[in-house]
Amino acid sequence: MITSVKEILTKAKEGGYAVGAFNTTNMETTRAIIEAAQQLRSPVIIQITEKTMEYAGGRQIFNIVKNMAEMYAPEIPIGIHLDHGKSFDICKRCVEIGFNSVMIDGSRKNLKDNISITKNVVDYAHSEGIDVQGELGSVPYIGEMEAGEVDWDNYMTLPKEAAEFVEETGIDTLAVAIGNAHGFVKERSVPDYDRLVRIVDNVSVPIVLHGASDWEKDRIDEVVSRGVSCFNVDTATRVAFINSIIKTVKSQNEVSFDIRKILGDAQEEVKKTVMKKMEDFCSSGKCVVTNDIQVEVDRISAEIGEE
Ligand code: G3H
Ligand code: 13P
Ligand code: ZN
Repeated sequence: MITSVKEILTKAKEGGYAVGAFNTTNMETTRAIIEAAQQLRSPVIIQITEKTMEYAGGRQIFNIVKNMAEMYAPEIPIGIHLDHGKSFDICKRCVEIGFNSVMIDGSRKNLKDNISITKNVVDYAHSEGIDVQGELGSVPYIGEMEAGEVDWDNYMTLPKEAAEFVEETGIDTLAVAIGNAHGFVKERSVPDYDRLVRIVDNVSVPIVLHGASDWEKDRIDEVVSRGVSCFNVDTATRVAFINSIIKTVKSQNEVSFDIRKILGDAQEEVKKTVMKKMEDFCSSGKCVVTNDIQVEVDRISAEIGEE
């Protein structure tokens, strides 16, 4: 069931658990995420970046996600979100396509310009009933970490600015920087938990953490207990996908490569990774299933099993 991201994350915030926002680039990853959500009865967010829209076609990849969500998990709340939108135009395009949430990433701008672009997107998206995520502070990328360019104090979210940012822009969810970094990289040795608490105390919207897909369970628990409601996950599933492809290709004879076997195995590995994350985030089992729905769930499970 395609569901508002704000609604999914507000429930998570109230329930003291987090929901995964998993990046997809293709049919196999999408299906892995949806089957994992269905099997574990977990709400989920599936997100698409601008680069993926260029690669797969924006409407095309959106339709793959929407069709699969409706077909394989009709009773599971699933949000479809634009990840790291860098301009008003890309956010507008996604709203027009049918995404139910967009991120406007003004995190590399100064506070005034970040507020200005984020508010523009919020005004437009809200007029169409669509949720918006903003980012304050900045979550570094793997290249910056390796180049030694990260001065954590300049990257991290300032709690007093967080209140102003949320109030001025009207965003629905807030991505923060507390020492987290994109990719499997050495991050700040310990996340700034006190800063997170001060941010959470200052704003009422659900908090999103990017770049934490290499975090172990104990660290996840530390931030969820302090108010994080959503984790973005891309690197962990991408690595699972690629490692599986390498393994299957090595095990096959070149003259009889079977793409379905190669990608099918990769899909299974991604599904396992997503399921582990859903368990770690404690989102599994959070979709209450009524008797009527159970009949439908059994039908879908049987259908998936037969395919
Ligand atoms: O944070 C962004 C994701 O890791 C994916 O980025 O699709 O732009 O390569 P990309
Ligand atoms: P990871 O690189 O840790 O998977 O983070 C993904 C992310 O933040 C996507 O927006
Ligand atoms: Zn990110």
